[in-house]
Amino acid sequence: MCGIVGFVGKRQAAPILLDGLSKLEYRGYDSAGLAIRNGDEPAEVVKSKGRLKVLSEKTDNGNALIGNCGIGHTRWATHGEPSRTNAHPHVSGNCTGTGSGEVESEVVGVHNGIIENFKELKEKLMKHGYLFYSQTDTEVVIKLVDYYYKKYTHSPQEAIAKTMVRVRGSYALCLMFKSHPGEIWVARKDSPMIIGISDGETYVASDVPAILKYTRNVYYIGNLEMAKLTPGEVTFYNLDGDVIEKELTEIKWDAESAEKGGYEHFMMKEIHEQPKAITDTLNSLIKDEKIDIDSIGLSNDEVRNISQIYIVACGSAYHTGVVTQYVMEDIAKIPVRVELASEFRYRKLLLDKNGLVIIVSQSGETADSLAALRLAKDKGIKTLAIVNVVGSSIAREADNVLYTLAGPEIAVATTKAYSAQLIAGYLLAIQFAYIKNEIAEEYYKNLIKELYTLPQKIEKVLEDKERIQWFVAKQANAQDVFYIGRGIDYAVCLEGSLKMKEISYVHSEAYAAGELKHGTISLIEDGTLVIGVLTQSELYEKTVSNMVECKSRGAYLMGLTSYGHYEIEDTADFTVYIPKTDEHFTASLAVIPLQLMGYYLSVSRGLDVDKPRNLAKSVTVE
Ligand code: M6R
Repeated sequence: MCGIVGFVGKRQAAPILLDGLSKLEYRGYDSAGLAIRNGDEPAEVVKSKGRLKVLSEKTDNGNALIGNCGIGHTRWATHGEPSRTNAHPHVSGNCTGTGSGEVESEVVGVHNGIIENFKELKEKLMKHGYLFYSQTDTEVVIKLVDYYYKKYTHSPQEAIAKTMVRVRGSYALCLMFKSHPGEIWVARKDSPMIIGISDGETYVASDVPAILKYTRNVYYIGNLEMAKLTPGEVTFYNLDGDVIEKELTEIKWDAESAEKGGYEHFMMKEIHEQPKAITDTLNSLIKDEKIDIDSIGLSNDEVRNISQIYIVACGSAYHTGVVTQYVMEDIAKIPVRVELASEFRYRKLLLDKNGLVIIVSQSGETADSLAALRLAKDKGIKTLAIVNVVGSSIAREADNVLYTLAGPEIAVATTKAYSAQLIAGYLLAIQFAYIKNEIAEEYYKNLIKELYTLPQKIEKVLEDKERIQWFVAKQANAQDVFYIGRGIDYAVCLEGSLKMKEISYVHSEAYAAGELKHGTISLIEDGTLVIGVLTQSELYEKTVSNMVECKSRGAYLMGLTSYGHYEIEDTADFTVYIPKTDEHFTASLAVIPLQLMGYYLSVSRGLDVDKPRNLAKSVTVE
């Protein structure tokens, strides 16, 4: 969690840093801070509790802070409550933590990640006379850098390298040294960080949107690497202090995609970007009416050898895995297990040597998913990552990568990345089935053709959004919502329910429709909203029966089904229809009204849709 930024160049740093932080607020938003240097003068540190807005107001949008070099941070608390004292930047001096210690401090820094052995290091530093003002692990790491800097050669590079060897955990660190004006030093392990370069200016950030307005030319800094940033230049070092060469990468995302573009919230904008995310992802993998998996490095022989697939992910990415499981098993006839990364990484795994582990992640930085990937690699199992963020840790470490082309996703609640992940899953299932001769050429071609109709069908669902808004307005006081469905519909329920709870704070549960009567049905009372998802013809009647069971206990029923199943209106109190498609792909359409429901309920309750409480976009801690 947390977003970090840094800038050194010709212009005033603070407004640029605040602008960058505003693009990273999705990563954390309980406090924020800046440290700015004006030439040789010590850093001026300003911090505040609460949203970035508070910091912006306090500094006159950054204009009050003079200097061309600086670092900034927006926090999602891990160690220590959200407060001004615990907000970053932290300084190495023995100050009160209210921003007065910077004058005597050699080191000032911001950090994203978790230092696991911070307690032991804190004790060691206290014995050396260091006093601590905050509860954060970050203050410990800043003071450790200071300790090594003073103990050894007064070289930032050596002090940081020694610190990196000593700390355990994850970090993206951004530091300034009082004795080295005009320089920013960065170091990274297991937390994201990119470095951007433009004419005479250098930027560092946790994620691309923060710098996209200024440059598209970026370097990816590797694990256990450091860099010195000066205006328009970067020098990379490994742990031994050797200079390492890096290739500059051009980011293809355009700056507009990281802006709201006239929508009130990023989430609504991203909901509307789903047709494009799908088309772009399809186009990147379909060449001459065939799915090109060579481009992701999988050969036909390798595919034929796969005896078991493990899909490992968290949250919504996990939900797309559940959909893929149904589709893959049905058409490619390969057994699939879908695993929560946080469980997978600690289980006593009996992995099949001819298995394929597929890690699904929008950010490519989710700590549990990354750990699961590493575990699979350690066990010698082939890995494939389905990732949205180019150059992210998971993308770089997996044997093979399939990029979803959803573009930058800013709202904490995922929508377009989810949709693109579904497409990635369908494409793999269809191609694996084709390679294994499980489906005939004609069906193969029809499936691909059908995939291309999904964007336009999503547009059609979106045309009806006011009707959903109207329905949701009537449900504004809902306490509990239940989502029920079978097969792929159950997988859609998982996502619909998560969308509801994460942004509307309404308790909701997704249940395999047949399972409700094994206990949970006792929660249904007069007026409880139960949403039945019924897009699978074979299971349709069964789910209707389960909806009727709920109705007899007082539930208020909403049905979500495909056009043609009009008889649902005999049972449901309110119905939403989606266009017909191949039933393997209905999740792509059925999820749209459920995303809209979560969105509208959140808006009607006056909540912060894009930045729901307690959450962060990418979960880079365990
Ligand atoms: O970046 P990832 O796809 O690995 O993130 C996984 C989950 O944290 C993410 O899907 C989360 O559940 C979203 N908030 C759901 O909207």
